[in-house]
Amino acid sequence: MSRKILVTNALPYANGDIHLGHLVGYIQADIWVRYQRMRGHSVHYVCADDTHGTPVMLRAEKEGLTPEQLIDRVHGEHLRDFTAFGVAFDNYHSTHSAENRAYAEDIYGRLRAAGFIDTRAIEQYYDPVKEMFLPDRFIKGECPKCGAADQYGDNCEVCGAAYAPTELKNPYSAVSGAKPVLRTSEHYFFRLSDERAVDFLRAWTRGTNASGERRLQAEAANKMKEWLGEEGENKLSDWDISRDAPYFGFEIPGAPGKYFYVWLDAPIGYLASFRNLATKRAAAGEMVAVEDYTDAGRAAAAGTEMVHFIGKDILYFHALFWPAMLKFAGFATPSQLCVNGFLTVDGAKMSKSRGTFITARSYIEQKLNPEWLRYYFAGKSNGTMEDVDLNLDDMIAKVNSDLVGKFVNIASRCAGFITKRFEARLGETDAAACAEFAAAWTEGRIAAAYEERDYGRALREIMRLADIANQYVNDHKPWELARHEGKEALLHTVCSTALTMFRDLSRYLKPVLPALVAQVESFLALASMDWQGDWAPLPAGHAIHAYSHLMTRVERKQIDALLEANRESLAPAAAAAARSAKDAGATQTSSSQQRHAEKQQHAAQAAETSLPHIGIDDFTKIDLRIAKIVDARHVEGADKLIQLQLDIGETDESGRAKPRQVFAGIKSAYDPASLVGRLTVMVANLAPRKMKFGMSEGMVLAASDADGKNAGLYILSPDSGATPGMRVK
Ligand code: 2FM
Ligand code: ZN
Repeated sequence: MSRKILVTNALPYANGDIHLGHLVGYIQADIWVRYQRMRGHSVHYVCADDTHGTPVMLRAEKEGLTPEQLIDRVHGEHLRDFTAFGVAFDNYHSTHSAENRAYAEDIYGRLRAAGFIDTRAIEQYYDPVKEMFLPDRFIKGECPKCGAADQYGDNCEVCGAAYAPTELKNPYSAVSGAKPVLRTSEHYFFRLSDERAVDFLRAWTRGTNASGERRLQAEAANKMKEWLGEEGENKLSDWDISRDAPYFGFEIPGAPGKYFYVWLDAPIGYLASFRNLATKRAAAGEMVAVEDYTDAGRAAAAGTEMVHFIGKDILYFHALFWPAMLKFAGFATPSQLCVNGFLTVDGAKMSKSRGTFITARSYIEQKLNPEWLRYYFAGKSNGTMEDVDLNLDDMIAKVNSDLVGKFVNIASRCAGFITKRFEARLGETDAAACAEFAAAWTEGRIAAAYEERDYGRALREIMRLADIANQYVNDHKPWELARHEGKEALLHTVCSTALTMFRDLSRYLKPVLPALVAQVESFLALASMDWQGDWAPLPAGHAIHAYSHLMTRVERKQIDALLEANRESLAPAAAAAARSAKDAGATQTSSSQQRHAEKQQHAAQAAETSLPHIGIDDFTKIDLRIAKIVDARHVEGADKLIQLQLDIGETDESGRAKPRQVFAGIKSAYDPASLVGRLTVMVANLAPRKMKFGMSEGMVLAASDADGKNAGLYILSPDSGATPGMRVK
């Protein structure tokens, strides 16, 4: 039976570039959409820019633009980037649109009529110079716990403490620098704590959708249990859905000067984009029955589905507020949330200073093939909320060995013979080989893997089959057959058989590699391949076109150039300010979640520089000691090194001090004479290393910027009182 599915991707904020972190979820959704369509299902795939809120308003002001001008420009940039990566929405709209206003007002009105809207006065920081209330991210001050300066209003980047902005010491507005004052104002709330909402969400979380599938992945369902608490418990807080002017957004009907909070109208943007698509289609004479997807009763009757692809940081909004809003406004609730994890690059969070905060645009400008990334991300996707690591060397290896070395190789070794020797017409295929290949097919397994978004599993299956096809070519060696007279018929058969196998592999890879497979379709002179119909071998006499190379290898130097293009030197304060707590949303409880919402919006485009967490066990493996520099001298022939003798309290058999020798790369920053007598910190259990100039028996610690080049080098010093050999922990 043909499914009718509305698929959405999270709406990116209109104040930042699309980067590779975004693309994980978009590529995963696009693959799923392409797969469903190949199976003959009807899919509407929509997205939009998320345009409202304080950060967009302030960013526009900073650029000397109106918010409308800014969001117009960014809309074009976002669409250009998605298109370049083959993410093919049917419609890419905007939350700042007539459709979205109409839906937001309608949903709000229905919620109000159903008793889900409350008002209450809340006290908040106000910037008296800028004359605006300040979101938490725009208030800074000293951390109430550790005293660190310049911390945001919601949590401390230094000690990790979470707090309310009113707890900050010496707060100031990050917008004007003014001292904020507390002001009371009336806010509108969505009553998420209403028992009806709690009961509904409990059932919704546990239930399955109309197709009998779970609405949430296992990890997401567990999060929901944590947020909802035990049966009979009510852990949900009401949700503050209004913001005071000045604010870029929609004014709340009947509430002058009050605006819908950006997160209220953001998911409504899914429906707005869909409505806008239907209008465009109607103009072209095609009817799309929007209410069959949006109206609760009609959607149930029509058996339509609404599937949202989102990142794990915004699960809270999509699994609690959004279904509850829809439900009590009489709208259809989501059938499924497909939640993806964050992207790390080479095992660490994306970082501007390392150049791993890679924008979509730079990837294209550096002329890297977008399908390399689609293939790699697909191979790393398993349908769970786990983070995806883009290991750059691994990507090079996978693309070169799988796509170029296995897949493309089949065609490149056989196609030329068909065009040159057989007037570009295929011959008979090898029935036994085709049967064997077909028997190895595990089409059901590949299909199930695509359906479950376990694309890694699908690709492993497909590559196993590519190995079989390559083995067939290796066994028959068409290049040798071509040199022997009387082997023409066999050569023709072998190449035709291999190209049939190649056709099949292409069909299975098509959701992941649409552009590459479009080239295959054109070279093999095939109509657009779907995942239905027969799989008969390509018929004898079928004419193909001349083969031209389908994909080039990735070179490490291309990746290095990409990193270089994205590398930015961050001033230390900017780096600290940009350090993101984006994943905090996945672990917050409801009240703090609301405080985190603005922060997430800001953090979504922020760079950060920290490495992944380690356990205390990892840390205690490092033996850090206070060391006294008892000798320091230049090393002849070494540009960067100083030879140090470090006393860490060790003695030889006769009880004499036995300093460690360490070659430290600090010559650019220190004169050896100035070091003698200083205390510093060394790693005492680093394996000794034989260097050209002698053994190095440890390492001294020094601070520098990420490259160790621009901001100097600073060895560490303990406070007075520390003595050689003391353990640092
Ligand atoms: O976190 C974000 O990037 C939001 N702009 C996502 C919004 S998704 C939907 F709700 F609009
Ligand atoms: Zn702190």
